[in-house]
Amino acid sequence: MIWIEINKEEPIYQQIYVGIRDQILLGELREGDRLPSSRELAGTLNVSRTVILEAYDQLMAEGFINSKQGAGTFVESGALLESFQTSDVQLTYDKTACSINTPKNLIDFRSGVPCLEKFPRKKWGSIAKDVYENINPSLFGYHSPEGSEQLRNVLATYLYRARGIRCHSNQIVITSGATQAFTLLAKLLINSNTEVLIEDPVTKEIPEIFIERGARIIPIPVDQFGIQTDRLSSKRRKSIIFVTPSHQFPLGGILPIQRRIQLIDFAKGTNSYILEDDYDSEFRYSGQPVSSLQGLSPEQVIYIGTFSKILSPSLRIGYLILPISLVEKVKNLKRYTDYHSPTIEQVILAHFIQHGHLEKHVIQMRKLYKRKRDFLIACLKNEFGNLIKIHGASTGIHLVGEFNFKFSKKILDEIKENGVNIFSVEKHALVKGNHDNKLIFGYGNLTEEELEEGVRRLKNVMKYTFLGR
Ligand SMILES: Cc1ncc(COP(=O)(O)O)c(C=O)c1O
Repeated sequence: MIWIEINKEEPIYQQIYVGIRDQILLGELREGDRLPSSRELAGTLNVSRTVILEAYDQLMAEGFINSKQGAGTFVESGALLESFQTSDVQLTYDKTACSINTPKNLIDFRSGVPCLEKFPRKKWGSIAKDVYENINPSLFGYHSPEGSEQLRNVLATYLYRARGIRCHSNQIVITSGATQAFTLLAKLLINSNTEVLIEDPVTKEIPEIFIERGARIIPIPVDQFGIQTDRLSSKRRKSIIFVTPSHQFPLGGILPIQRRIQLIDFAKGTNSYILEDDYDSEFRYSGQPVSSLQGLSPEQVIYIGTFSKILSPSLRIGYLILPISLVEKVKNLKRYTDYHSPTIEQVILAHFIQHGHLEKHVIQMRKLYKRKRDFLIACLKNEFGNLIKIHGASTGIHLVGEFNFKFSKKILDEIKENGVNIFSVEKHALVKGNHDNKLIFGYGNLTEEELEEGVRRLKNVMKYTFLGR
């Protein structure tokens, strides 16, 4: 007789299938053994006959059993696996693992998260509905690796208007966020002899992507204006140069034109490419967004853009603007990586930009972020007075607060235990020891109440650790 313990969590058919399969693999049911009829087993286990038939069908399709007309269902030969052990892995899932929120009450100053509440759901949703209902069926098929032609055309026009970028749509390759753009470039341009001159500090993951390919990382220090280009002069070798000239991450400098020209001259003189990571410069709070480096030297600069900050990181849409000579190679790499990025999302985004919604959204968000930034600065000044110096607040959705104290990991952990998640610039430093007195305050996704409370909690911890009050 076959007995299987049926529980309420997993599908019944699955439990019966696994139960019989395991008994065969373990040799408890042997070649030629006759299985009970579906009616009989349904009665024994007190389940419907349909689920038994479903389980038998699956076992038959996988070759565990066979049915002989009129004689019944039998275990097939060769299905005993000597080393087989039933798995104790729980098929139930941890419901808390699906939570999309940070732990209750934790105020999270992590940088780079836009205001998720304000994602333009209605507009995006109505465009999405329209696109799904009306696009040509061919768009549900496979496409070329560079991405939607419609999006690339719209993007080329938008970028010229918004960022002074000079490019043809056939120089654009749509990627899965800027992160995939870095990975593709690393595969294309980096081998174990390549030197990468890179801003220090820099987003932690970026040099790691290059190191993975064997690059030799040469940190170039950053000051309040961005990369210190005069430090390049001694490195006159062909290399790759990584910069965030419109808004240095994390220190916030905006690279002045003199340094931009120096950078381009260096790249031309050494036959190097500059990777320009432009991740959030649409949010500039005085004057216009600064022009791109790419606009000054399209042959020397590879531009990397993303919709993670102006719209949402969950879209995973970024793009590369490449010198023509690199386009085909990058397209091939993209094809071998994931064929192409999801087409429908790209088409929705193309409509969103084409009908002016992106520019409207950016204007609204810029106002909102400016309010949040001013509020945060007021809170910081209120709590810390002249114990804090603010850096890099003119653009983007984070700023840096410099103190007279060092924030060790232990202290940051203590701050976290007191309800505030915050990182120091040191986390992103290549040469350690120069930036552990600076904290990064991401404010894009926090309300004014959270900003105020977060700064108050931070002050409370610091009062006992540093300020001695
Ligand atoms: C400076 C910088 N560039 C690029 C990215 C990557 O963005 P994504 O891969 O979401 O497009 C980040 C992520 O926060 C970043 O901080």
